[in-house]
Amino acid sequence: ATTPRPTGNLDASWAALKAEAARCTRCELHQCATQIVFGEGPLDAAIVFVGEQPGDQEDLAGRPFVGPAGQLFNAALEEAGIDRTQAYVTNAVKHFKFVQRGKKRIHSKPDTSEIEACRWWVDRERELIRPPLTVALGATAARSLTGKTVTISKSRDAPLTLADGGECWITVHPSFLLRLPDEQVRREERAKFVADLQRIRKRA
Ligand code: URA
Repeated sequence: ATTPRPTGNLDASWAALKAEAARCTRCELHQCATQIVFGEGPLDAAIVFVGEQPGDQEDLAGRPFVGPAGQLFNAALEEAGIDRTQAYVTNAVKHFKFVQRGKKRIHSKPDTSEIEACRWWVDRERELIRPPLTVALGATAARSLTGKTVTISKSRDAPLTLADGGECWITVHPSFLLRLPDEQVRREERAKFVADLQRIRKRA
């Protein structure tokens, strides 16, 4: 069983946390990003999804998973029977990390120090929500949640137990599916992703 959620006004605590996060200087990434992209969703969510970091579109919109990876994520959730509006969706790293190439901003992977620095916010979000289920979408989220480097293929079959007693499920990141060049492989991997989500839904 998970530890009890904190008492008091959760909405106010979350709003204060988000406002504090907007002033975050725990790592350098705030210097170039447009804004922080904090998590969103109901604070009594049974499932918290943790992505890697905002992409170009998320950075501009100020919301997680609204770009191409978000569209794939939404479709997979729907297929798995998970209502995104009932879940809390956030990222391991809350500022967009990129390199500028002409007019384009190209995604750049967060490093361990950035993941560790931002982990403080993920921990605070999870402390407020106390979700029975947390889903790491990809290796960066898994690193943030477990503090370890994990191999997705070896870790996706069974959940880990986090310090607060919640289950942590590890699966692929939607962007991984978008990057697969072979259509057949992409279809198979997408089906495996949906199957992971279905299995997680049944635990909720
Ligand atoms: N990829 C992520 O990990 N998070 C987002 O919010 C968007 C793309």
